[in-house]
Amino acid sequence: MKIVQAHGNLVSYDCDGLVLGLGSEWETSSQLAAIDSALGGTLRKLVESEELSTKPMKVTSLLSPTGIQARQLVIVGLGNNETRDAGIGYRAAATGAKAMAASKNRKRVAYAGFYGDDLYTKSSVIGSITGGVGQDLFRAERSLHAPEEVHWFDVSDAILNQGLAIGQSMNLTRRLVNLPPNYLYPETFANEASVVAREVGLEIEIWDQKRLKVEKCGALLAVSQGSTKEPRLCILKYAGTNPSIAPIALVGKGVTFDSGGLSIKPTEGMLTMKCDMAGAATVLGIMRSAALLQLEQPIIGLVGLVENLISGDAFKLGDVVTARSGKTIEIHNTDAEGRLVLADVLNVALQHNPSHIIDFATLTGACVVALGNDVVGAMSNNDHWQQKILDAVGRCGEYAWPLPMYSFFAEQIAGKVADIKNVGEGRWGGAITAAKFLEEFVGKTPWTHLDIAGPAFLDSPKSWTDAGATATMVRSVIELLSSIDS
Ligand code: BES
Ligand code: MN
Ligand code: ZN
Repeated sequence: MKIVQAHGNLVSYDCDGLVLGLGSEWETSSQLAAIDSALGGTLRKLVESEELSTKPMKVTSLLSPTGIQARQLVIVGLGNNETRDAGIGYRAAATGAKAMAASKNRKRVAYAGFYGDDLYTKSSVIGSITGGVGQDLFRAERSLHAPEEVHWFDVSDAILNQGLAIGQSMNLTRRLVNLPPNYLYPETFANEASVVAREVGLEIEIWDQKRLKVEKCGALLAVSQGSTKEPRLCILKYAGTNPSIAPIALVGKGVTFDSGGLSIKPTEGMLTMKCDMAGAATVLGIMRSAALLQLEQPIIGLVGLVENLISGDAFKLGDVVTARSGKTIEIHNTDAEGRLVLADVLNVALQHNPSHIIDFATLTGACVVALGNDVVGAMSNNDHWQQKILDAVGRCGEYAWPLPMYSFFAEQIAGKVADIKNVGEGRWGGAITAAKFLEEFVGKTPWTHLDIAGPAFLDSPKSWTDAGATATMVRSVIELLSSIDS
């Protein structure tokens, strides 16, 4: 995909499709008023007769409109000035992109009417890049046809290029999550990471099974044991344009398929478990964006890649494994595997002396029970760090909410024969007991855990995105990393 500034007259602009953002105050824009008069006052009539809604993400398509050059016109509601934010910009532009991409290939799609501050317009540009890309990677006839060229009115080249970098990185995250587990497993994920690293100039180090043994990553290796696919741990480094700042570590859960192991999942619960590497794909998407945007902040990305399967070698209930940190862990449930992988990856992260850590993981169904499908759970050992992240998420119009980390939750993971066990007592508060487990492996470093189990992967589509992977948190964390003061 290519992105360019659109210049000249909107009415006579040569494009296969035009996406118009229409807020309730649309008539105050001379561009939109000109479109309306070229259409013979159609917009005003449709709005007045309530055939056309300016409510956020409401879509109206006008096929082959006469009076304007664009061969197809899609109008997307932006709501009113007071409630409009970067989240609405993203979702509305993506809704337009998806409507344009449905049914037919359109080479050149232009966008206008998205007026606002830089974060708002950037978010809208990102939406124009992600909305037209779907999950049906293996279907001969795709349901969505992303355009070759995206043209934007009233947005600077700098913002367009940033939006493209972030949007395409989100599409990378989404593609990896959407890839089936027979295509994407630890080795092939690591290969993808190498390709990305080379493309954008990141340093990368890949630990194979032999190295993981040397490094005593006993918790990660235990999970991997039941699979014939070898595990990997990737360490990506972005140096930052200001190397005097300490790095921030981003850690991702990369379970390329989670069968549950011997604590096997039922069919319905297992079907979508290719998405269990979404945390790792999120880290890769963020690292790619950071390199392309040339952020000041140095970043280390670490992803632990395993498959959680069953065989004669699989880890068992009652096993005791020794994590890289030296802590011993009793296995009470082989389906609580993500925290075991992260235990070792977090320990490797500490070795790089990060000032702060964020981990991303499709960690618990309990988090989805607590917050629903659309909200990320945040858990931290440091309120200040957590709040900074939540502020960035809020500015971007994504959704994340804190869960309490009271110390008594940790009593639930005390071990009987080992230091700790890998589940709490019963299922209540399961998102938090999982986070308490992770907390055992971050030392005193300010750390925030983002449980993305709900929002990372959608069972059904929304107006602005196909079902499947969403790349949740990528644009928010880029906003966070861009705004951190040294
Ligand atoms: N990968 C799952 C969590 C998950 C559930 C992700 C739904 C996405 C959608 C995780 O490994 C898991 O199985 N967690 C268990 C933990 C339990 C055994 C303590 C769970 O949530 O049931
Ligand atoms: Mn599991
Ligand atoms: Zn899992």
